[in-house]
Amino acid sequence: MLAIRLVTGPERPDTLVLPVRPEGPDPSAALVPTASPPADDVRAEATALLPVARLTGDAGEVREHLRPGGTPSRLVLLGVGAGDEQGWRSAGAALARAAKDETHITVALPADAAAALRGLVEGLLLGSYRFRLTEAGGAPALAEVDVVVPDPDALTPILETARTTAELTRLARDLTNTPSSVKNPEWFAGQVAAAATGHPDLHLRVRGPEELAAEGFGGILAVGGGSASGPRLVELDWRPADARTHVVLVGKGITFDTGGISIKPVPAMKLMRKDMAGAAAVVAATLGAAALRLPVRVTTLAPLAENMVSGSAFRPGDIVRHYGGLTSESTNSDAEGRLVLADAMAYAVRELKPDLLVDLATLTGANAVALGKRHAALYSENDQLAADLLAAIDAAGERAWRMPLATDYVEYLGSELADLHSSPARGAGSVVAALFLREFTGDLRDHWVHLDMSAPSWSDDADAELAKGATGWGVRGLLRWLATLG
Ligand code: BES
Ligand code: MN
Ligand code: ZN
Repeated sequence: MLAIRLVTGPERPDTLVLPVRPEGPDPSAALVPTASPPADDVRAEATALLPVARLTGDAGEVREHLRPGGTPSRLVLLGVGAGDEQGWRSAGAALARAAKDETHITVALPADAAAALRGLVEGLLLGSYRFRLTEAGGAPALAEVDVVVPDPDALTPILETARTTAELTRLARDLTNTPSSVKNPEWFAGQVAAAATGHPDLHLRVRGPEELAAEGFGGILAVGGGSASGPRLVELDWRPADARTHVVLVGKGITFDTGGISIKPVPAMKLMRKDMAGAAAVVAATLGAAALRLPVRVTTLAPLAENMVSGSAFRPGDIVRHYGGLTSESTNSDAEGRLVLADAMAYAVRELKPDLLVDLATLTGANAVALGKRHAALYSENDQLAADLLAAIDAAGERAWRMPLATDYVEYLGSELADLHSSPARGAGSVVAALFLREFTGDLRDHWVHLDMSAPSWSDDADAELAKGATGWGVRGLLRWLATLG
């Protein structure tokens, strides 16, 4: 992966990247003052280029200018928009794509470099992401980026935070992009084990079908019952000695969702290898909390199952007994996510008794119907907690929108046969699913957030820091939020 170094001035005569921003009522670009100003002749040349190159300074704009025999031998003018972290993130991603055939570049940052550095580093590392199994053309040549800042030592922690955040977002993308011929529940648990080894304060427990049966995880067993690859429950615990707050993260981990007996039509099924993006995000965020040594205890639960069609699959109309004893009647085996989440949440509430509970799930197609392709739906009874998470998600450059736990639909959860009906074919899909999950929050009802992230978990095109395919949605926002606790 790309090596990024902090330096106090350009050390090589090759490519120098100078930031530009919009200026004036009829926006045209102006150079952004940098900590180490370019030589006078370079600055004059860059300034003269701005109108000729028709630059506006918008974030992500890139213009290359060759200077044969000069130092630097290439100038790149890079639009950073408002110059805030998100502007620099988009700029970093655009730069990684534009400079993919160079091996080394130098980027000059403004004197007030902290937010710019964080955005630039995340943008470079996320914009250059390729999924190695499916992306043809090989790795980008760009191997080294020198970043010119006033004080490298003082900014090193920001570089490390940004690098860790991006690396773990890339891990979540890799897990989510992996084809389901490779990633069954056992494989996913093995990936978590491999990533967690070496951290002395990270503890991992993986339950297999027998333990799940012995302890009463009926939802995970029902959904996983149709597959030749049995279900798992991953429990990954980051437990620093100085923690005062305990957060449990739960992530939906359906390694492929056929819909089960209520089978999905072809177009709806083709991307269902991504149905474990919630599990990938919470695992990656927990690994990030450990890597950054955040002083907050984080336990991640990833219920993993493959929702298949077979003679041992659960049927519409079956009654499921969840962890802790609540039963649910499922009339649609395609509403499987809420069944595995219910077990994990009930387990968290009863056995782990955390302060806060957050679940992430590619739960409903209705998320995208309501909010479009980039926003997750956020549900919570707790206004402060909702606001805190929304702020962290926004600061991290991700998007979520709060939705109501509308009581109008609670009656639809009634069943004649069980405590709850898990998949009523009425009401707003994402809201009804959230209301079902709320039934498993017990004492933590007011300390819980549900994020339906079906829509933003995937991008159909490369867009700023997003690559085509899995986005790793949630890793950045969760890490920001966890960093504010403690
Ligand atoms: N995994 C799907 C939700 C989904 C859809 C994720 C599209 C990403 C993109 C989930 O298990 C599902 O099938 N939900 C059903 C629920 C319904 C049967 C109540 C849905 O959204 O149609
Ligand atoms: Mn489904
Ligand atoms: Zn699903």
